[in-house]
Amino acid sequence: MSDTGNGPSLTLTEEHKMIQKAARDFAQKEIAPIAAEFDESGEFPYETIKKMGELGLMGIEIPEEYGGAGLDTLAYVLALEEISKADAAHGTIMSVNNSLFCYGLLRFGTEEQKQKYLVPVASGQKIGAYSLTEPMSGSDAATMRTRARLNDSGTHYILNGRKSWVTSAPVADYVVLFAMTDPEKGHRGITAFILETDKPGFIRGKKEPKLGIRASATSEIVLEDYECPVENRLGEEGQGFKIAMTVLDAGRIGIAAQALGIAEAAYEAAVEYARERHAFGKPIGAFQMIQQKIADMKTRIEASRLLIINAALAKERAKTTGERFTLEAAMAKLFASETAAYVTDETVQIFGGMGYSKELPIERYYRDARITRIYEGTSEIQRIVIARNQLGIR
Ligand code: CAA
Repeated sequence: MSDTGNGPSLTLTEEHKMIQKAARDFAQKEIAPIAAEFDESGEFPYETIKKMGELGLMGIEIPEEYGGAGLDTLAYVLALEEISKADAAHGTIMSVNNSLFCYGLLRFGTEEQKQKYLVPVASGQKIGAYSLTEPMSGSDAATMRTRARLNDSGTHYILNGRKSWVTSAPVADYVVLFAMTDPEKGHRGITAFILETDKPGFIRGKKEPKLGIRASATSEIVLEDYECPVENRLGEEGQGFKIAMTVLDAGRIGIAAQALGIAEAAYEAAVEYARERHAFGKPIGAFQMIQQKIADMKTRIEASRLLIINAALAKERAKTTGERFTLEAAMAKLFASETAAYVTDETVQIFGGMGYSKELPIERYYRDARITRIYEGTSEIQRIVIARNQLGIR
């Protein structure tokens, strides 16, 4: 959300400008220089993530009393865009921690749960994850097979099953995880739990070797008679699917901001290259076929930005009205992720062979952008959500 004349006419407050600048300075100074190395090795960037916690970036919207920075959704997307512009993998880790873990705890947690789990995660001392997907249930999340049953004394739930594609699972301290407590009730039989990853029965499964966002660690979770105390149930029994969807609404705004950051990084490189690279006696930017790409890239980036602001403001309003911001989040995520894919692809094209080379970050932007059309709801799912909202049919 640029305030330099490049963005929409949204006047940022001094506080917004400060968080944007703090995130930008940190990202360009500390993250950008190490991004290629961590992409190559696939190692988790513990040091920079720890520093992001110290800067207040791991729980931006969480009130200070619960360990967060006490800022709003606009501050969150501004900061996430800057971090993702330097490295999308850091953006993923930040987004999941902020939206999928902290926001869920803030919305649905008890006071005890907030003190015990939200405070350390929002302040960046611990890492949080969110686990919904399973090998046989991705988009159709309600068909999960992981089971949770109450023990005879009613003190613990016993969880068994296999979850997949869990961002930060290899490093997380706590996970909000969804399991079926009453399979006969379908989506109304799903319940949410807060799991501690160092407890018996919690097994970090196969680590995923990924195309992009490689420094963000992703793995399966295997649960073998994991004993979850009743006080670690998040919300009521059977409320889990609604919690999962509510939290994903917040998560999707974050992924939209991440996609915008990736698109901007690629776009700025494309503009510079189109000015400097000469062919047939002219800068390639003088050719209309390149100009058409630049014009479409820029227009789609600014349209994404507006949809993200729209979604951030809707989420902010929802804090007082309690209304859903499902439509706004889905539109922002759909458009920004498709834009990131388009912009990074065209940037590779403008760079030609150099866009395909590991010597420049262009091919990394292209690989990193791809996941934004898939996780936290594919583009196809976002279209379903938008269309159902408009048509009023399911
Ligand atoms: N907020 C609150 N409630 C919601 C909701 C929302 N956004 N969306 C649906 N619901 C409620 C409905 O009102 C309905 O409530 P009732 O029980 O009162 O009827 C209930 O949930 C079921 O709704 P649907 O009938 O619409 O459910 P569905 O089974 O048809 O699914 C869907 C809808 C939109 C396709 C949904 O399943 C979905 O979003 N799927 C994609 C899942 C997804 O995004 N997965 C990504 C996981 S996270 C990840 O990517 C990994 C990571 O670590 C980053």
